[in-house]
Amino acid sequence: MSFNAEAFIRKMPKAELHIHIEGTLEPEMMMELAKRNGVTLPYDTVKEIRAAYQFGSLQDFLDLYYAGMSVLKSERDFFDLTFAYLTRMHQENTRHVEIFFDPQGHTERGVSFDTVLDGISSALETAQREYGITSRIIMCFLRHLSEESAFETLTHACRCKNRIFGVGLDSSEKGHPPSKFSRVYRAAREEGFIPVAHAGEEGPSSYVCEALDDLKVQRIDHGNRALEDPSLVRRIAREKIPLTVCPLSNKRLQVCPDLTKHPLRQMLDAGLIVTINSDDPSYFGGYLTENFLAITKALSLDRHQLATLARNAFIASFLPDQDKQKALDAFDAYAKGFL
Ligand code: HPA
Ligand code: ZN
Repeated sequence: MSFNAEAFIRKMPKAELHIHIEGTLEPEMMMELAKRNGVTLPYDTVKEIRAAYQFGSLQDFLDLYYAGMSVLKSERDFFDLTFAYLTRMHQENTRHVEIFFDPQGHTERGVSFDTVLDGISSALETAQREYGITSRIIMCFLRHLSEESAFETLTHACRCKNRIFGVGLDSSEKGHPPSKFSRVYRAAREEGFIPVAHAGEEGPSSYVCEALDDLKVQRIDHGNRALEDPSLVRRIAREKIPLTVCPLSNKRLQVCPDLTKHPLRQMLDAGLIVTINSDDPSYFGGYLTENFLAITKALSLDRHQLATLARNAFIASFLPDQDKQKALDAFDAYAKGFL
């Protein structure tokens, strides 16, 4: 009997390491929260919202992403948003998630840092209790804003060290190199935050080098364009820096419009620790399972490659070694039972 990849993917234990919680805002919830909070949207129906999701570039998407956030106001809104994502992850048998949030997207429009973090973290606690999903929170700096604004945001994080595990860097990449935030990252590392950064999504491979050299990141988010520099690829393999790759995001943002030409295979062949993630699932047309299904189909991945990708997510996670091993053992038991 041939290997049923779809059945294997749907039930396998998963971890997700690259997910912007604001990017899980489904049009239905956007409408509901707009009504709840008296916010006027430039759309009348869910269909109109979905129809607007045609992106020519990262910036096209970001314009809608920040506009969508305007409906999120209270702690309850952030709880509902996060818990809806976690319920979905529970249904997909996702066991561990590392969630990005963009505090400046909220503080800039008058919603307090604590309102946002309290809502997100209380949903994560509830999901751990009810679903057994473990999690980490990674706070992102918006790279199109100033170093000063990032430092101010870091001050908030320092009050909440028990809940924020790491710092990341997202938003408009071109023209905003990682080195712009070298000093903020140094301060964040000194405060004990684990550093990661988006690099090489639209920006050049030199931004990936900067993320490694200047920010001293432990993971690269996306990293596609690192492949343009063979010596950098060798370095990423040698230093075992994981890449959190997002297939449907790459397709929808025109980073790689045709998934049959996606560089994931080259990444695996180069020995990189690559993981599959959804990025902003409500905007890009699919959650974690859909990303696995789409890339498996496009590249005809076999069961060994699939197992490597799924296992990599636990290996590349920020779980303690003992918990990683338990998760890997559970995955291996699942794979053995399936075959
Ligand atoms: N890239 C940069 N910034 C982002 C993204 C992304 O894919 N998603 C949300 N913010
Ligand atoms: Zn991202």
